[in-house]
Amino acid sequence: MAAVKISPNVYWVGAIDYDVRDFHGYRTPFGTTYNAYLVIDEKVTLIDTVREKFSDQLFSNIAEVIAPEKIDFIVCNHVEPDHSGSLPEVLARCPHAPVYCSPNGQKGLKAYYKTDGWNFQIVKSGDSIKMGQYSLSFLHTPMVHWPDSMASYLPEQKILFSNDAFGQHIATPERFADEVGYDRVFDSAKDYYANIVMPMGASVVKALAEAGKLDISIIAPSHGVVWRGSVSGILSRYDSWAQYKTRAKLAVIVFDTMWHSTEILAERQAQELRDQGYEVKVMSLRQCHISEVVAAAMEAAVIYVGSPTLNRGMMPQVAALLHYMKGLGFKNRIGRAFGSYGWSGESPALIDEALKDMEFETSEPLKVQYKPV
Ligand code: FEO
Repeated sequence: MAAVKISPNVYWVGAIDYDVRDFHGYRTPFGTTYNAYLVIDEKVTLIDTVREKFSDQLFSNIAEVIAPEKIDFIVCNHVEPDHSGSLPEVLARCPHAPVYCSPNGQKGLKAYYKTDGWNFQIVKSGDSIKMGQYSLSFLHTPMVHWPDSMASYLPEQKILFSNDAFGQHIATPERFADEVGYDRVFDSAKDYYANIVMPMGASVVKALAEAGKLDISIIAPSHGVVWRGSVSGILSRYDSWAQYKTRAKLAVIVFDTMWHSTEILAERQAQELRDQGYEVKVMSLRQCHISEVVAAAMEAAVIYVGSPTLNRGMMPQVAALLHYMKGLGFKNRIGRAFGSYGWSGESPALIDEALKDMEFETSEPLKVQYKPV
């Protein structure tokens, strides 16, 4: 993949990972990209790097624009290794280049890498550096989604380098959302938000308030494609998602099953809800990964969860889903537990307890022995 000019004197020089299918437990069926950007001015600035094993792609792309050794400034918006993995090699080639990062960024980089001799320049929100005709200012975005996270803004071109925020896990040769198609990119951005950003809603609201003060024409995130001409669309979606807004008539029914009895219960309840005017998505954990379920359920006001009883408990994937949902901050939904059983039948009550623990308003669990009649 070649370097791509995203606006005058600004280039995408990242890496495309077509093969990754698991991102710390989150299934990524379409792969991802690790985006780094190069700003060419009197001083050459590299914004973020890539996962270490893709360093060759990074340097090859930089070399299409300028010799990597000519990088003057390095910005590390986020220390997670998918974005900082190539930093040691960049520093080996440009040992005197200052590394601009947040205070927590410096702590993280020191923990991950041998940083002796690195020229750290710690920046606060609002600080800016001059590169020549362009400048770059910094905006701390703590817990969107790590304590060190920050974004960088190029005011002369109205570009926000947002790092993980507004990203999507899509590996594609296209570099812009409009080239891929907005429906697909918004869907991927929603999956990404549900699985990565959702627990940080309050921090997202704060970051959006700060970002709202900026004049933004392009959002260049650290994963997926670049937003141009669609900035308001992704900002308004983040605003809604960060407020945990739900759709009153959207229901998700998710289940695991042994001999199809719990599946029959799922289908029957789905029909009942459809009869009441709900849009219902029925998801079997045999076919759907928990990361797909949480994305589908993120905006659902109604979430039913079913499992047969196995070994006096629920099926393992159902337990995994409930654990994952709790960690992501699912709250305040209408829920119902259901499931079949043979002789002991603990599962629906245990699911009901887990839903209540997430402050769901639940109705009496639905429980049948062996097979629904
Ligand atoms: Fe894409 Fe938080 O790393």
